[in-house]
Amino acid sequence: MKKVIVVTGICVALLIVVYTQFNGNTAKADPRGEDYAGAMACAKCHSKVYNSYLHTAHYMASTPASANTVHGSFAKGFNVFAIDSNQRIVMEKRDSGLYQTYYVKGKAKQSNRFDIVFGGVKGESYLYWKGNQLHQLPLSYFNLQSEWSTSPGYKFSFIDFRSIGKRCLECHVSYIDELPQQQLSRDEQFDKSTLVYGIDCERCHGPGAQHVSFQTNNPTVKTARFIARYSTLTRDQKMDMCAVCHSGIHTALLKSTFAFMPGDTLAKFKLPEFQHSLDTSHLDVHGKQLQLLKTSKCYMYSKMDCATCHDTHQNTRGNDILYTQKCLSCHNKPNHVYCKMTDKLSADVLKTKCISCHMPELTTNVISVLVADKAPPVRFFVHTHHIAIYPQEVKKILAFINK
Ligand code: HEC
Ligand code: HEC
Ligand code: HEC
Ligand code: HEC
Ligand code: HEC
Ligand code: HEC
Ligand code: HEC
Repeated sequence: MKKVIVVTGICVALLIVVYTQFNGNTAKADPRGEDYAGAMACAKCHSKVYNSYLHTAHYMASTPASANTVHGSFAKGFNVFAIDSNQRIVMEKRDSGLYQTYYVKGKAKQSNRFDIVFGGVKGESYLYWKGNQLHQLPLSYFNLQSEWSTSPGYKFSFIDFRSIGKRCLECHVSYIDELPQQQLSRDEQFDKSTLVYGIDCERCHGPGAQHVSFQTNNPTVKTARFIARYSTLTRDQKMDMCAVCHSGIHTALLKSTFAFMPGDTLAKFKLPEFQHSLDTSHLDVHGKQLQLLKTSKCYMYSKMDCATCHDTHQNTRGNDILYTQKCLSCHNKPNHVYCKMTDKLSADVLKTKCISCHMPELTTNVISVLVADKAPPVRFFVHTHHIAIYPQEVKKILAFINK
């Protein structure tokens, strides 16, 4: 009898040890501190939001590099980018990962691993760790054209590996700790163990650990506690929540936007951008959606904010019908301000082309890349958020539909 009790006791003790070990490993503390719970913790109760969020550009804003997240081809014949007859960059798959290797006259000069992927919608760029510094690989992938291309801004008169600073990370990851700068180096240093990939739930909603513990301990309470409520923010506060990353990159930061919380005022973090808003030559892939929208009559004469048209938990890219419904929620005939072209256009065109005429895709003059074997630089397209009447675009659309 005694033996049985002792054995059972040992088994129970072992189980407890195994359980706490396992639990300790899975529930790793969030690098942002104990106020944060991490996106996995949100998935438990908000599984629908979480699962659709996994398909959004925000989730993809940064991911660990792997054969699944790097979309460019490593197959023979598709993995070489010739700079000129002597120099080439070759994409190589090895046991230790994916690499970009720079060859001069057939001799390998430098080889760096793909460690982090930024993006994947129009283009993707890659970073690698060099000690505690992050650098950008010279080649990016142009998803829209399915081709390797130069990273924006790269010129091949020399091969430099651009250092990536905190500024890029503040918009493309949810968090990383900076380390003290080393002497003799201008480049910022980071603690890679603290990197939180993607733009996650708490980057937008603020810290949620207390919310998680309250709702877990009070399952009968069906209203949210201890989490910022979007509906109670002022319009400016709502706009600032997105403007943290969607209002351009051309002015200095006063402090790190990693500390920005819903309800904060962006002006305390970032000097205002210059008012180039309407000049499309200043539209870049790091678009100034905030400034462009604010100069639109739609914005000035209504209470709209970014979430009027965008459900940030879903990938609605290319869903023109859905966006048309958003337009029509304000611009239907009984509402008086409706499209003067309504009677001249077929129902089909109206259903899908509001944005083609009023928020057209325009080329950026700032971001261009070189694609292998194609001489002129290729420019990126961006939907302008200055909603207006664009006679040139209207002409193009009319010519297209009357063909
Ligand atoms: C134990 C369950 C539980 C967990 C875990 C949980 N929530 Fe919630 N959350 C709720 C409940 C219940 C509500 C109120 C009902 C609703 O709005 O869905 C809510 C509401 C919210 C709201 C809406 C607030 C409002 O009223 O505008 C946000 C935002 C939110 N949660 C974010 C998060 C985030 C971020 C996490 C992860 C850090 C998280 N939740 C984890 C239960 C949970
Ligand atoms: C912390 C930075 C950050 C914040 C805050 C942020 N975004 Fe983004 N957003 C990004 C980045 C980075 C991308 C591009 C990601 C990519 O393509 O990899 C992006 C992409 C998008 C896209 C394009 C989606 C697509 O499928 O092409 C939309 C729309 C968008 N954001 C809307 C919003 C709205 C609305 C808000 C506020 C509620 C917001 N964002 C807040 C960084 C942010
Ligand atoms: C102020 C915030 C901000 C900064 C700083 C920033 N980005 Fe972005 N980036 C964005 C947003 C927002 C988008 C999506 C823009 C759009 O579609 O208009 C984007 C898009 C991209 C894309 C294309 C993603 C895709 O899926 O097509 C790449 C690649 C990229 N950024 C790399 C970088 C690099 C590298 C840096 C630093 C040199 C950087 N970004 C700095 C906000 C930022
Ligand atoms: C890019 C910013 C952004 C990210 C990332 C984000 N949210 Fe939201 N979320 C919003 C905004 C904006 C609203 C308010 C939408 C509205 O009310 O129009 C919202 C609303 C909510 C709500 C209440 C309404 C609803 O749709 O159920 C919950 C719950 C929520 N978010 C949970 C999450 C969770 C969980 C994640 C991560 C899986 C997440 N959010 C990621 C911006 C974001
Ligand atoms: C929240 C309501 C709302 C939404 C949603 C909305 N608009 Fe508007 N829009 C307005 C208001 C209000 C005006 C100003 C009307 C006036 O001049 O009295 C306006 C003006 C316009 C104008 C005239 C612009 C000019 O410079 O003369 C166009 C074109 C337009 N909207 C197109 C659109 C399109 C396309 C969409 C969808 C992508 C859209 N709107 C979504 C409210 C909205
Ligand atoms: C009146 C509706 C409307 C509002 C309001 C709106 N957007 Fe958009 N947005 C669109 C449409 C339409 C597209 C094109 C979507 C597509 O092609 O799938 C778009 C595309 C985008 C993109 C991707 C750009 C590109 O061309 O690839 C980003 C980023 C974005 N919006 C951010 C924002 C932010 C941030 C705000 C608030 C400052 C905002 N949007 C407000 C309608 C809107
Ligand atoms: C083929 C291009 C085209 C399409 C598609 C189109 N519009 Fe228009 N829209 C125009 C033109 C051109 C004008 C200016 C007409 C004029 O002033 O005579 C206009 C004017 C407007 C105005 C301003 C009306 C006013 O009184 O100032 C609004 C609002 C508008 N459109 C909304 C929409 C919406 C919503 C859709 C989709 C359901 C849409 N448009 C589809 C070309 C287009």
